[in-house]
Amino acid sequence: MEPTTIVLFGATGDLAKRKIYPALYNLFIDGKLPKEFSLVGLGRREWTDESFQANVEKSLHQFSRREANDAGLVKEFLRAFRYSVLDIGRQEDYLKLLQLVESRENELQMQPNRLFYLSVGPEYFEPIAANIKESGLGSANGWKRLVIEKPFGHDLSSARDLNRNLSKSFEEHEVFRIDHYLGKPMVQRMESLQQANPVIQALWTNRYIANVQITANESVGVEERAGYYDHVGAIRDMFQNHMLQLLMMAAIHLPNDSTSEEVRFKKKKVMEALELVQKEDVIANVIRGQYAEGSMQGNPVVGYKSEPGIAPDSMNDTFIAAKLQIDNNNWRGVPFYIRTGKRMKDKSTRIVVEFKEPLKQASTKSEDGTEPNLLVIEIGPNEGITLQLNAKDPEHKGSFKPVHIDLQASPQNSPEAYENLIGDALNGDPTFFAHWDEVELSWQWVQPILDAFEENLVPLYPYAAGTYGPVESDALLAKDGYHWWFDA
Ligand code: BG6
Repeated sequence: MEPTTIVLFGATGDLAKRKIYPALYNLFIDGKLPKEFSLVGLGRREWTDESFQANVEKSLHQFSRREANDAGLVKEFLRAFRYSVLDIGRQEDYLKLLQLVESRENELQMQPNRLFYLSVGPEYFEPIAANIKESGLGSANGWKRLVIEKPFGHDLSSARDLNRNLSKSFEEHEVFRIDHYLGKPMVQRMESLQQANPVIQALWTNRYIANVQITANESVGVEERAGYYDHVGAIRDMFQNHMLQLLMMAAIHLPNDSTSEEVRFKKKKVMEALELVQKEDVIANVIRGQYAEGSMQGNPVVGYKSEPGIAPDSMNDTFIAAKLQIDNNNWRGVPFYIRTGKRMKDKSTRIVVEFKEPLKQASTKSEDGTEPNLLVIEIGPNEGITLQLNAKDPEHKGSFKPVHIDLQASPQNSPEAYENLIGDALNGDPTFFAHWDEVELSWQWVQPILDAFEENLVPLYPYAAGTYGPVESDALLAKDGYHWWFDA
């Protein structure tokens, strides 16, 4: 692995503490950090190198999946960490930063490969990128990469503006847009599921598949994020990015050992074939909901409008369900149903592929006990892949019962999304990052829905906290003769 300096903006923040430092530590333990490695953390707080290192160490004890109880190892890991105070808008601070980065590169005799990780609010992306360019930090004689987190824009036009501005300082191949769902181990394994199993590959078409259901239910509510969430809602927070990424990953065909270009090209093709929903048709294809008071595991919880920081007349969506259609030879006629919501009965992210039943009309349980064949990919918090088939029920003559075959058992203590993604960014592998084409096409699909919401063309259905969302979401599938699987 090539020598690398990580320049981390937002080093005193929550994401760094919860995800980035633990991920780096686990990569270090696994021997997946470059031998020549330096990290410069930046923030407004007046920390020293020592207080920075102490804070990083604390975060490992709190959040690392592997215990950080070997003092020698932890010390060795922290040796790479330096801190500098930086005010994002002050050019002088970038010159000071440049000196620090260069002096560390000289000290460690490293090539100047620099990975700029922007773990800060999106309003800071443009000024930071511009200052990296202005200061000369981005023009050393090595590679440079920019890692940014969502949200990438607030709508189609702001996303385009942001991209145009970032591209003045970084080329597309240098930009690594994190969508942490693409780092989840089961999402990464979907590629090999097809590659290693010709049977599954052969079935991955509208000839055999009746519908695909993609669910990301969360039991948490808005938590302490009212200021952010009340302006974005489920549609921007989850749907435009994570959910559409899952759709792309489920819909692509990957028969061979695909290169990153092939994967991204195929994802783009899926998005291009996604039928746009006109503003007037949103009402028939998209259900928006907002949680009302209810109960979670027996405890009463307040409704969204009574959450701290939320306006009592907020029209924000905390739930979205939608029916999407991909207009290509492979998927024409197969609805993709997607839903995501807060304060749902339980937390689970999964993809269910429901196969056709050629001998039957209805796809729901029938009298002989057969159910449709299902391929279930559990993405989180449980991980696994199961195939549901029908077998003769020896106890009841003439009838069947569903049996489940585990194709991939739940792996123990597997690397977290951020480990996979930071490791890939260090290696320069863009496969599991969102390309601008995908981001732009996702916003294009979402924009008419945002417009319809804005103009109130679609009802906002309340649902009780602790349920599976508004009943209208069930009706969306029932119209087509289906139902959401595994709502217990
Ligand atoms: C984030 C959203 O991107 O994803 C949060 O901003 C959401 O609102 C989170 O809770 C869900 O991620 P995960 O990995 O817990 O499913």
